[in-house]
Amino acid sequence: MTLAEALHEAATRLLKAGIDDPRLEAEVLLRHALGVDREELFARLQEPLALELQALYEALVDRRLEHEPTAYIIGHKEFFGLDFACSPAALIPRPETELLVETAIEWVRGRGSRVKDLRAVDVGSGSGVIAVSLATHLPQARVIATDISDKALALGRRNALAHCVASQIEFVRGSLLEHLSGRFDLIAANLPYIPSQTYNSLPPGIREHEPEAALRAGRRGTALIEAMLAQAVDHLAPGGVLLAEHAWNQGRRLREAATGHFPTADIETRRDLAGLERLLVVRTARD
Ligand SMILES: C[S@@+](CC[C@H](N)C(=O)[O-])C[C@H]1O[C@@H](n2cnc3c(N)ncnc32)[C@H](O)[C@@H]1O
Repeated sequence: MTLAEALHEAATRLLKAGIDDPRLEAEVLLRHALGVDREELFARLQEPLALELQALYEALVDRRLEHEPTAYIIGHKEFFGLDFACSPAALIPRPETELLVETAIEWVRGRGSRVKDLRAVDVGSGSGVIAVSLATHLPQARVIATDISDKALALGRRNALAHCVASQIEFVRGSLLEHLSGRFDLIAANLPYIPSQTYNSLPPGIREHEPEAALRAGRRGTALIEAMLAQAVDHLAPGGVLLAEHAWNQGRRLREAATGHFPTADIETRRDLAGLERLLVVRTARD
């Protein structure tokens, strides 16, 4: 069997099982089995696939047919132009979270030379994608990455080391901002925000493989973000910014909650590429 034939067969099985983008998924898994990039795969399509690699490829496709996410099967995923290790210890990074990172970087750069040492916190750091992306793009940033999951923190540390920013990031176990002292110029949070009922109807690939504690957040889905807003009153520096990712229908409730805690702040919601409300932005006035 040639690589092209194996690819075709796998794509057909994935298609029949109702997996989205079957051809692309089949290709990513084949590249992973062979350890080659896209260019090399296409140059070798007419070569035979060795029997042991055929068995390995079939096993990878079988896992995908069981709805295991590709990022967990191949162990990594791109986020903000960087490659991150992924494991079931943490949520797979989502492209919509890039809006938070982009907004944070824009805000810091917009402050020009005023901030030499930027104190930032990434609340609910998971695989560390936010903390690591910020540290990579903002060498002046000192980031505390905090999460309730030890396993997620370990994965975050691994990603910080892989991107050579471990000296800029301290990984700390704890809930929200409770265990932190002092004030931060930037508070960034992608906390769980899926309401319990919505969680129960998520696709099996998410519900059966990604950690529930990274997704589910009470009846309305805003409980954790609202609790963090209350705590942030004692932790957001004057002239600072708080950014919190949320679901498309939580914008108004979170703006109202933020206004209650930060009555003099500049509060807005940014939309994602799909035009949906996605990011709460709270900017406090300078002293
Ligand atoms: C939606 S995931 C986001 C992970 C990562 N920041 C990202 O953007 O991919 C939420 C993370 O928040 C963590 N978490 C849940 N409850 C928390 C709490 N009370 N305090 C801190 N982290 C929490 C979960 O363990 C999970 O890693």
